[in-house]
Amino acid sequence: MTIASACGKIILLGEHAVVYGRPALAAPLPDLRATAAASDLAEGEPGSVCIEAPDIELAAWLHELSPDQPLAVIVRLTRQALAIEKHPPLALRVQSSIPVASGLGSGTAVSVAVLRALSAHWGHPLAPERQSALAFEVEKLHHGTPSGIDNTVVAYEQPVYFVRGDATQPFPIGAPFTLVLGDTGLRSNTSMAVGMVLQAWQAEKERFEALFDRVAGTVALGRKAIEQGDWATLGEAMDKNQQLLQEIGVSSDELETLIETAKQAGALGAKLSGAGMGGNMIALAETGMEPILPGYTHLQQAQPVRAAHWVLSHFWPLHRDLVRLGRAASSAGSLPLGSGALAGCPFPVDRQWLMEALGFSQVSENSLDAVADRDWAVEMAFSGALLGVHLSRLGEDLVKCLAL
Ligand code: PMV
Repeated sequence: MTIASACGKIILLGEHAVVYGRPALAAPLPDLRATAAASDLAEGEPGSVCIEAPDIELAAWLHELSPDQPLAVIVRLTRQALAIEKHPPLALRVQSSIPVASGLGSGTAVSVAVLRALSAHWGHPLAPERQSALAFEVEKLHHGTPSGIDNTVVAYEQPVYFVRGDATQPFPIGAPFTLVLGDTGLRSNTSMAVGMVLQAWQAEKERFEALFDRVAGTVALGRKAIEQGDWATLGEAMDKNQQLLQEIGVSSDELETLIETAKQAGALGAKLSGAGMGGNMIALAETGMEPILPGYTHLQQAQPVRAAHWVLSHFWPLHRDLVRLGRAASSAGSLPLGSGALAGCPFPVDRQWLMEALGFSQVSENSLDAVADRDWAVEMAFSGALLGVHLSRLGEDLVKCLAL
């Protein structure tokens, strides 16, 4: 088996204007990753690929997928790039911890992870430049007129100063700084946002060109600030960039609320990151203020722990609870009405209408299964119980903190 992964990304400054030739700064998110595992199958036709992507509930053979399905596209592009056709039958499993459609480069990371796994599995690992070019082809299919910034930062996995059409310029970051990501929980549709900006630009070219020039000014300001470790100025550049993104029309009430909250909590600057209209915001935290806590094990102080490390140790279980409860809610959202005692009703029932009127999300597929199914109850009980365990763990930590 060959396993490869690729990182997510954030755009620090310059999104949207970058599509119109202005510079932008982007950085990888090495801890958020998509992973692809390729392994030969004992049985199957030569050249066949069985693709499994549990995050999007996909399990299918390559030839069954629509030709523009992104995973199908990247598998075919990689084969073409390597001039490989009749490989042994292959299983490809793809997973990702990057939230989808939230401006964090999830689709690009999946493409790059897949092409890395396949090319390594077939003995011809591709250089970052070629990885970037192949992932760009998938971006073009799904985002219309992408600038190429996402595939560049993900393939090189380095901060980049990016200008469309220019050679990739890695951008070394002199001193560490801390960014906080805030997820609106709303999907950010890149092609829609980019299309909307295009329409606005076509209607008012002069105004939009001037806005993009001002965005470029914030990128120059931010770049210099990062080189000099001047975080106050970087925050200023982020705030100015956000005002311009508002004027461009890609912010949203939810993003503004997160940005305002971050600013009130002391952020030096905050802005949306990526296409906007949902997705994530980034906020620049003041550096040098991070408290260090004593980490305990076996009732003894063991290691120093950063406060953020501790906070995130509670965030992740609660995040899993949220996902689990969402899945349980979706199981409970299947309408059994119309199944009768076991094999249907003697009178006509408009199940679609009932589903919508009662707020269910789908109609059960099989009446025998529907009348017997209690999965939703068990899933709800388990999800609730585990949420309780996680909240109790948080409570215990807080009580110990107060006692110290
Ligand atoms: O895919 P996203 O949400 O990270 O957006 C990419 C950044 C844009 O500038 C909006 C589009 C582009 O291709 O550069």
